Amino acid sequence: MKTLKAISLLIFASLALSVTTRAQSTTLAATPPMGWNSWNHFAEKVDDAGVRAAADAMVSSGMRDAGYVYINIDDTWEAGRDDKGIIQTNKKFPDMKALADYVHSKGLKLGIYSGPGPKTCAGFEGSYQHEVQDAQTYAAWGIDYLKYDLCSFTRFMDREHSADHGHQMMLDAYEKMHNALVATGRPIVFSLCQYGWQDVWKWGPSVGGNLWRTTGDIEDKYESMARIGFGQLSLAKYAGPGHWNDPDMLEVGNGGMTGDEYRTHMSLWAILAAPLLAGNDLSKMTPETVAILTNRDVIAIDQDIAGHQGDRISALGLTEDWGRKLADGSIAVGIFNRNDAPAEGVLRFEDLGLKGRVHVRDVWAGKDLGELEREYRVQIPAHGVVLLRVSK
Ligand code: GLA
Repeated sequence: MKTLKAISLLIFASLALSVTTRAQSTTLAATPPMGWNSWNHFAEKVDDAGVRAAADAMVSSGMRDAGYVYINIDDTWEAGRDDKGIIQTNKKFPDMKALADYVHSKGLKLGIYSGPGPKTCAGFEGSYQHEVQDAQTYAAWGIDYLKYDLCSFTRFMDREHSADHGHQMMLDAYEKMHNALVATGRPIVFSLCQYGWQDVWKWGPSVGGNLWRTTGDIEDKYESMARIGFGQLSLAKYAGPGHWNDPDMLEVGNGGMTGDEYRTHMSLWAILAAPLLAGNDLSKMTPETVAILTNRDVIAIDQDIAGHQGDRISALGLTEDWGRKLADGSIAVGIFNRNDAPAEGVLRFEDLGLKGRVHVRDVWAGKDLGELEREYRVQIPAHGVVLLRVSK
């Protein structure tokens, strides 16, 4: 009898835990997270003043009002641990709680970075064997987002005799931190970073991931961005409210691509329902960069409440149509030109399952093209895009 009671208590407890876990992940990141991350532009040069400046610029540039929320500190903030094992910040971050208070006072949220191994990717202190302690420290500071980067944890996985066992260790390590975050009672978005290994999209939600990187690191070059973005084929079914594929942070405004290429970057990420984490210096933006990052219609596609990730509809040589179904029944379509020269792209409405006259809006041009029939043909600049919103 006693055993029966114990078993039913256990079942009840685990049910309750899984309900809270799920409840947390659906309210958190109900749409793809939007914000800024220090790594792409600042790397190890990130510091307290730079993070405050990013928060200030997020507000003054209009990005906050366009929907950007998270100010995320990436790697290199960590020092060692004190004699109780509590993680310390290095001299670049004299007071993390005060920094969080500052960021919160601007109506923004603060994110931080760590990993399950002893060392982070840049060789700083990781959370290995201090997961619960670190989660509590983050919560006490007022952290709202954690990017958790595999890196040196692979040394434990490699030691395993079977690859399956190594794989399971990685899942366990992510779940351990997820549980530690949940136990703090503070909603903290959990971002998995392990470069898309082992089809992370298939198990990311089960270990509490709100988003997971699907590839290696992006670079501020068209080839890198295009390889990653156009490589996201067939992942759509794994994304949805609370759990997103993450093709890595934005490079918009970092200077390595043309305006057309950055519009391609932003359009593709919006169709992919990707997190929009700006990776540039927000305090030094050209009007074009601000315009790309804050275009309301593009952001509305990315943040569409239905949360359906888009996919490729058709390809004709190096021009490709990618589409995403939106909550109001309309369809966002990017006609992309991957050629190194201008080319004509075409959208056939029957490829969208639409017959008769359809209404078409050119999103970047901010222009209604009226009622069209059968197809839309358009000249697209090299590496550029025409982004449309098509409705019946
Ligand atoms: C890895 C990640 C990057 C960044 C660096 C920091 O390379 O993929 O996004 O966080 O580590 O060291």
